Amino acid sequence: MSKSTIDITNQKFILELNAALAMENAGVERLQTRIEETSLPEAKQRLEHHLEESQQHQQLLQQLISNMNGNPTSEKLGLPLPSYPQDMKAMMDKTMTKQEYELKRSEEDMIIENAEVCCYLMMIQKCQMAGGIFLDAIGPLSKIMNDEQEQADWIKTHSPGMLAQLWPKIQSAVAASAPPFSL
Ligand SMILES: [Fe+2]
Repeated sequence: MSKSTIDITNQKFILELNAALAMENAGVERLQTRIEETSLPEAKQRLEHHLEESQQHQQLLQQLISNMNGNPTSEKLGLPLPSYPQDMKAMMDKTMTKQEYELKRSEEDMIIENAEVCCYLMMIQKCQMAGGIFLDAIGPLSKIMNDEQEQADWIKTHSPGMLAQLWPKIQSAVAASAPPFSL
Protein backbone atom coordinates (compact mmCIF):
# COMPACT_ATOMS: atom_id res chain seq x y z
CA MET A 1 0.00 0.00 0.00
CA SER A 2 1.19 3.56 -0.73
CA LYS A 3 1.67 6.00 2.14
CA SER A 4 -1.54 7.91 1.35
CA THR A 5 -3.50 4.65 1.13
CA ILE A 6 -2.12 3.63 4.53
CA ASP A 7 -3.07 7.07 5.96
CA ILE A 8 -6.65 6.84 4.72
CA THR A 9 -6.99 3.21 5.84
CA ASN A 10 -5.55 4.31 9.19
CA GLN A 11 -8.14 7.09 9.60
CA LYS A 12 -10.99 4.79 8.64
CA PHE A 13 -9.75 2.17 11.08
CA ILE A 14 -9.47 4.71 13.92
CA LEU A 15 -13.10 5.65 13.21
CA GLU A 16 -14.20 2.00 13.43
CA LEU A 17 -12.24 1.45 16.62
CA ASN A 18 -13.83 4.56 18.13
CA ALA A 19 -17.29 3.34 17.11
CA ALA A 20 -16.52 0.06 18.92
CA LEU A 21 -15.23 2.02 21.93
CA ALA A 22 -18.45 4.10 22.00
CA MET A 23 -20.37 0.80 21.99
CA GLU A 24 -18.26 -0.51 24.92
CA ASN A 25 -18.76 2.79 26.79
CA ALA A 26 -22.52 2.42 26.45
CA GLY A 27 -22.23 -1.30 27.27
CA VAL A 28 -20.43 -0.60 30.56
CA GLU A 29 -23.21 1.79 31.59
CA ARG A 30 -25.89 -0.75 30.70
CA LEU A 31 -24.08 -3.57 32.54
CA GLN A 32 -23.96 -1.43 35.69
CA THR A 33 -27.73 -0.94 35.45
CA ARG A 34 -28.33 -4.63 34.73
CA ILE A 35 -26.24 -5.68 37.77
CA GLU A 36 -28.43 -3.42 39.94
CA GLU A 37 -31.74 -4.61 38.54
CA THR A 38 -31.36 -8.38 38.09
CA SER A 39 -32.96 -10.59 40.74
CA LEU A 40 -31.03 -13.71 39.73
CA PRO A 41 -27.75 -14.20 41.66
CA GLU A 42 -25.97 -16.19 38.92
CA ALA A 43 -26.90 -13.58 36.30
CA LYS A 44 -25.67 -10.81 38.59
CA GLN A 45 -22.34 -12.61 39.05
CA ARG A 46 -21.92 -13.17 35.32
CA LEU A 47 -22.83 -9.55 34.51
CA GLU A 48 -20.21 -8.40 37.04
CA HIS A 49 -17.68 -10.62 35.30
CA HIS A 50 -18.55 -9.16 31.91
CA LEU A 51 -18.42 -5.62 33.32
CA GLU A 52 -14.79 -6.25 34.29
CA GLU A 53 -14.09 -7.64 30.82
CA SER A 54 -15.79 -4.68 29.15
CA GLN A 55 -13.63 -2.27 31.16
CA GLN A 56 -10.58 -4.16 29.83
CA HIS A 57 -12.05 -3.87 26.32
CA GLN A 58 -12.28 -0.11 26.74
CA GLN A 59 -8.59 -0.01 27.69
CA LEU A 60 -7.51 -2.26 24.81
CA LEU A 61 -9.43 -0.13 22.29
CA GLN A 62 -8.10 3.12 23.78
CA GLN A 63 -4.58 1.70 23.47
CA LEU A 64 -5.07 0.64 19.85
CA ILE A 65 -6.49 4.07 18.95
CA SER A 66 -3.65 5.91 20.70
CA ASN A 67 -1.06 3.67 19.01
CA MET A 68 -2.48 4.81 15.68
CA ASN A 69 -2.29 8.47 16.77
CA GLY A 70 -6.05 8.76 17.16
CA ASN A 71 -8.08 10.22 20.04
CA PRO A 72 -10.11 7.66 22.02
CA THR A 73 -13.72 8.77 22.31
CA SER A 74 -15.68 9.05 25.55
CA GLU A 75 -18.98 9.10 23.64
CA LYS A 76 -21.62 6.43 24.12
CA LEU A 77 -23.30 4.83 21.14
CA GLY A 78 -26.98 3.86 21.07
CA LEU A 79 -26.92 0.08 21.60
CA PRO A 80 -28.44 -2.19 18.90
CA LEU A 81 -31.76 -2.91 20.56
CA PRO A 82 -35.02 -3.98 18.90
CA SER A 83 -37.85 -1.46 18.67
CA TYR A 84 -41.55 -2.26 18.46
CA PRO A 85 -44.65 -0.67 16.90
CA GLN A 86 -46.00 1.93 19.32
CA ASP A 87 -49.23 0.08 20.18
CA MET A 88 -47.36 -3.17 20.88
CA LYS A 89 -44.84 -1.34 23.05
CA ALA A 90 -47.66 0.34 24.99
CA MET A 91 -49.34 -3.04 25.54
CA MET A 92 -46.02 -4.60 26.65
CA ASP A 93 -45.41 -1.78 29.14
CA LYS A 94 -48.92 -2.14 30.49
CA THR A 95 -48.98 -5.91 30.86
CA MET A 96 -45.39 -7.00 31.52
CA THR A 97 -44.63 -8.36 34.98
CA LYS A 98 -41.30 -7.65 36.70
CA GLN A 99 -40.17 -11.17 35.77
CA GLU A 100 -41.15 -10.78 32.11
CA TYR A 101 -39.27 -7.49 32.05
CA GLU A 102 -36.22 -9.29 33.42
CA LEU A 103 -36.44 -11.89 30.64
CA LYS A 104 -36.84 -9.15 28.03
CA ARG A 105 -33.76 -7.38 29.35
CA SER A 106 -31.84 -10.65 29.22
CA GLU A 107 -32.98 -11.16 25.62
CA GLU A 108 -31.66 -7.68 24.84
CA ASP A 109 -28.35 -8.56 26.53
CA MET A 110 -27.98 -11.52 24.17
CA ILE A 111 -28.77 -9.36 21.13
CA ILE A 112 -26.16 -6.79 22.19
CA GLU A 113 -23.44 -9.39 22.83
CA ASN A 114 -24.05 -11.04 19.45
CA ALA A 115 -24.00 -7.62 17.72
CA GLU A 116 -20.64 -6.94 19.38
CA VAL A 117 -19.30 -10.26 18.06
CA CYS A 118 -20.32 -9.24 14.50
CA CYS A 119 -18.68 -5.86 14.85
CA TYR A 120 -15.33 -7.29 16.05
CA LEU A 121 -15.40 -10.13 13.53
CA MET A 122 -15.70 -7.68 10.63
CA MET A 123 -12.90 -5.52 12.02
CA ILE A 124 -10.60 -8.54 12.38
CA GLN A 125 -11.31 -9.58 8.80
CA LYS A 126 -10.52 -6.07 7.56
CA CYS A 127 -7.21 -6.09 9.49
CA GLN A 128 -6.31 -9.42 7.88
CA MET A 129 -7.11 -8.00 4.46
CA ALA A 130 -5.22 -4.72 5.03
CA GLY A 131 -2.14 -6.52 6.43
CA GLY A 132 0.96 -4.58 7.55
CA ILE A 133 0.54 -2.57 10.75
CA PHE A 134 -3.14 -3.52 10.94
CA LEU A 135 -2.18 -7.10 11.78
CA ASP A 136 -1.11 -5.86 15.25
CA ALA A 137 -4.75 -5.15 16.13
CA ILE A 138 -5.90 -8.71 15.47
CA GLY A 139 -4.73 -10.08 18.86
CA PRO A 140 -6.57 -7.55 21.05
CA LEU A 141 -9.67 -7.56 18.82
CA SER A 142 -9.80 -11.38 18.88
CA LYS A 143 -9.55 -11.38 22.68
CA ILE A 144 -12.46 -8.94 22.87
CA MET A 145 -14.52 -10.89 20.32
CA ASN A 146 -14.00 -14.13 22.26
CA ASP A 147 -15.17 -12.48 25.50
CA GLU A 148 -18.31 -11.22 23.73
CA GLN A 149 -18.98 -14.66 22.26
CA GLU A 150 -18.55 -16.31 25.66
CA GLN A 151 -20.99 -13.82 27.20
CA ALA A 152 -23.54 -14.41 24.42
CA ASP A 153 -23.11 -18.19 24.86
CA TRP A 154 -23.48 -17.93 28.64
CA ILE A 155 -26.79 -16.13 28.32
CA LYS A 156 -28.03 -18.63 25.73
CA THR A 157 -27.00 -21.64 27.84
CA HIS A 158 -28.48 -20.22 31.03
CA SER A 159 -31.69 -18.81 29.58
CA PRO A 160 -33.73 -22.01 30.25
CA GLY A 161 -32.65 -21.89 33.92
CA MET A 162 -33.49 -18.20 34.20
CA LEU A 163 -36.87 -18.82 32.60
CA ALA A 164 -37.55 -21.75 34.95
CA GLN A 165 -36.87 -19.52 37.97
CA LEU A 166 -39.04 -16.65 36.74
CA TRP A 167 -41.87 -18.65 35.18
CA PRO A 168 -43.89 -19.51 38.35
CA LYS A 169 -44.30 -15.83 39.23
CA ILE A 170 -45.21 -14.97 35.64
CA GLN A 171 -47.87 -17.69 35.69
CA SER A 172 -49.31 -16.68 39.05
CA ALA A 173 -49.55 -13.05 37.84
CA VAL A 174 -51.42 -14.25 34.76
CA ALA A 175 -53.78 -16.34 36.89
CA ALA A 176 -54.43 -13.43 39.25
CA SER A 177 -55.27 -10.83 36.63
CA ALA A 178 -58.08 -10.42 34.15
CA PRO A 179 -56.96 -10.87 30.54
CA PRO A 180 -55.74 -7.47 29.35
CA PHE A 181 -56.47 -8.29 25.72
CA SER A 182 -58.40 -10.92 23.82
CA LEU A 183 -56.60 -13.54 21.77
FE1 LIG B 1 -20.10 -7.28 25.68
